[in-house]
Amino acid sequence: MKIFLIGYMGCGKSTKAKQLAHRLDCPVIDLDAEIVSKTGKSIAEYFAEFGESGFRDYESKMLKTYNYPETCVVATGGGLPCFFDNMEWMNAHGETVYLQMEPAALVSRLHNRQKRPLIKDLDDEQLLVFIKEKLQERDPFYTQAKIIVDAFDLDGEKLEEAIKRSR
Ligand code: S3P
Repeated sequence: MKIFLIGYMGCGKSTKAKQLAHRLDCPVIDLDAEIVSKTGKSIAEYFAEFGESGFRDYESKMLKTYNYPETCVVATGGGLPCFFDNMEWMNAHGETVYLQMEPAALVSRLHNRQKRPLIKDLDDEQLLVFIKEKLQERDPFYTQAKIIVDAFDLDGEKLEEAIKRSR
């Protein structure tokens, strides 16, 4: 089974994907990291060169063409579920888990903004407003996930239990 973790930047998708994969003893795939290793460019460099729409095309292609092992945990980029038919595609190909978190908690966790082109120039106050707006746009996509968990204080064990409970 493939488990796709989705949610806004800063909700902990990459860390929790590693913890869950460790518990399930299966590989973890971080799609943003795959983009960086395939293109040889950081996400910020990719945005600068090809713009957001170029990035959305590429990440969507990566999602759908990656050679996934039968069982794995996949950490996705924060915007990926909200473009093209990516959310439907993930729902059709595995379990989808939305790591939900309050905007204020996300702000306090987003320290390293430089590597995230959409928020690199925002201070805390601006970021809070930005996240609230983005979540309004994105929640209709994120909430199509089969499983929704509160990402605050979440660890691999709690995440595994939430997935088991939902079966
Ligand atoms: C983005 C989230 C980032 C990365 C890119 C755009 C977004 O991934 O894909 O900077 O639109 O929310 P993380 O959620 O892993 O930071």
